[in-house]
Amino acid sequence: MKVDIVTIFPTFFDVLDVSLLGKAAATKLVDVAIHDLRDATTDVHKSVDDTPYGGGAGMVMKPEPWGVTLDGLLEDDSILLVPSPAGVVFSQDMARELAAGSHLVFACGRYEGIDSRVVEHYQQTHRVIEVSLGDYVLNGGEVAVLAILEATLRLIPGFVGNPESLVEESHEAGLLEYPSYTKPRSWRGLDVPEVLLGGNHEAIRQWRYERSLERTKRARPDLLED
Ligand code: ADE
Repeated sequence: MKVDIVTIFPTFFDVLDVSLLGKAAATKLVDVAIHDLRDATTDVHKSVDDTPYGGGAGMVMKPEPWGVTLDGLLEDDSILLVPSPAGVVFSQDMARELAAGSHLVFACGRYEGIDSRVVEHYQQTHRVIEVSLGDYVLNGGEVAVLAILEATLRLIPGFVGNPESLVEESHEAGLLEYPSYTKPRSWRGLDVPEVLLGGNHEAIRQWRYERSLERTKRARPDLLED
């Protein structure tokens, strides 16, 4: 898979080298390139933003540098992702869809966002997803891109050492994951549940399912509504 990230803070993505994503790049499963939006500006100040039409607080990212940069990156099969608190909420389902793609292009907005015509323009030719991490506001798309990339790349076959570990985790079956324990058997007066020590696989499966259900009911009842 090929990934291009456009940002005004390229060094933000230095962290990719030390995370799981660095491993993916090293194993050639993914080829990530970072692009500085300011490289596509023509004025001496390399300005990427301007005041909003209609008034209001903050600045809006100008469409021209985005047009130049994205024209140079997008291919026929590219998916353009634009992180925004006004987008559809990112999910494990979306991560699965993205993991099956061949080219992802991320456009990191800052300030009050990117001039809306950029999304409108590329929607005419490409799949464009305005994507939100959740109902809160970040300063820009960079943190969202790191989260989306990590959730997506670990679903690419070959990325996670033991693919079975992907099957039983939270959100894969529409439930939250059951609690996990390791040695020692007793810690600060808290014991590992007896059923996990017995080797009765059916009893363990049943116990884990019940804990998953219980956890989901408590923390995320909305997941059980579907
Ligand atoms: N940019 C600012 N807030 C965001 C959010 N909640 N999700 C994705 N991108 C954002």
